[in-house]
This record gives sequence, C-alpha cells and structure tokens, in this order.
Amino acid sequence: MTQDELKTLVGQAALQYVTPDTVVGVGTGSTVDKFIDALAASGIRIAGAVSSSSRSTERMKALGIPVLDAAEVDALQVYIDGADEIDGRGYMVKGGGAALTREKIVADLARTFVCIADESKLVDALGKFPLPVEVIPMAAAQIARRFHAMGAEATLRAGCVTDNGCHILDVKGLRITDPAAFEADVNQWPGVVTVGVFARNKASVCLLGTGQGVRTLTF
Ligand code: A5P
Repeated sequence: MTQDELKTLVGQAALQYVTPDTVVGVGTGSTVDKFIDALAASGIRIAGAVSSSSRSTERMKALGIPVLDAAEVDALQVYIDGADEIDGRGYMVKGGGAALTREKIVADLARTFVCIADESKLVDALGKFPLPVEVIPMAAAQIARRFHAMGAEATLRAGCVTDNGCHILDVKGLRITDPAAFEADVNQWPGVVTVGVFARNKASVCLLGTGQGVRTLTF
C-alpha cells in the first residue's frame, strides 16, 4: 500500500471514535484531510467541529461540516489529529504543517486524543524529524542560539507565518528521551509560543496504518 492509501485507511478508521451529535476536535495535515473527507462522506451528523487551523476549517466548510469556535466549547470527547513522529508511549512531535499551537489548544480540550498516522511515523525516540517550535519573531535568533548551545541546529522555516502571525524554527539534532521534561523546559523560554513536543497532551490511542491493516496502539 502507498503512504497515501495508508493515510486514507486510518482516516476512515478514525470514524469509529466519532459519536453522532457531539462536537469533534479536528487536527491538521494530509492524514486529517483524509479523515475530514471520510467524515463528510460517512453521513454521520455531528454537532460541529473545533478546528486547529484555517486549512482544516476551509476543507470542512467546503464539505458542509459546521465549524465552531473553541470558545463555544467546554470540553470535547475526542480530538483526531496526525503526527510527524509518535513513540511507543504516545508522545508525539507535531507541527510539520505549522499548526502546532492551535493543535495543542484543541487537544487540551479533549478527553481522548486519537492519533492517525502511517507506520513511518512510529519511532523509538523523538527527534529524528526536525522539531517545529513556534516563536515570537523578535525572539527567533535568541532561541536558535539556545538550541545551538544544546548541540542542535535551529533553522527558520522560510516564508512561514503561522495562523497566529508567528514564525517556526525547525530544530535538527535532538534526541528527546524525556518528552515531558523537554516540553516543560522549552515552553518556558522567553519568546517560545509552543514547542512541537506533545507530552502533556499525548495520544491516548494511535491508529497506525500498516501494510497488514490498521494497528491500534493504546497508551
Ligand atoms: C500540523 O501542524 C502537524 O502537526 C500535522 O499533524 C503533522 O505534520 C502530520 O501531518 P501529515 O498527516 O500531513 O503527515
């Protein structure tokens, strides 16, 4: 199966976590696009979706899925999103699509985070995929120097302005063995908006697309 077919498979499989007439949290990315398409085609009527990006909002609106503001919702049963990396404990690196801040906000509203990913995303330790960090533009160089001092290399993502008007640093050369401590530390650096390690808001379930079908990992 191609990577695209694996994404379609897990996008479809995520429908089992959607309860009719509830509000669903929706992430961002090419795998989530497959979920949105599957949801629209399924005929399952939901009360609405809280979206993590303008990309997903536009796609859902175009397909007739009502989109609600996060402020209108106290809690969500489920948040469905992809990942750039996920480890065997459900910790993730996210933000390849630059939507990490809103993704973390919507994930934090949800009781269950369902990660949908093809098997290439499963890793032993986070850090091979360049870690996205959303930063206030004024602080970008200062934060890059701080990563350099840790032995890593941070590069400003060219031409990228996030939905929040900020910039993204992509950080290479990290091996993140304690994701919770790393997230808590980097989040406190002045000028960091959000670090793309999802530890506090880790996955509860991962639907992993493999050549043998969907493998369900629970954490
Ligand atoms: C968006 O900012 C990201 O967190 C995505 O969820 C992640 O990059 C996965 O995207 P794909 O499904 O396109 O691989």
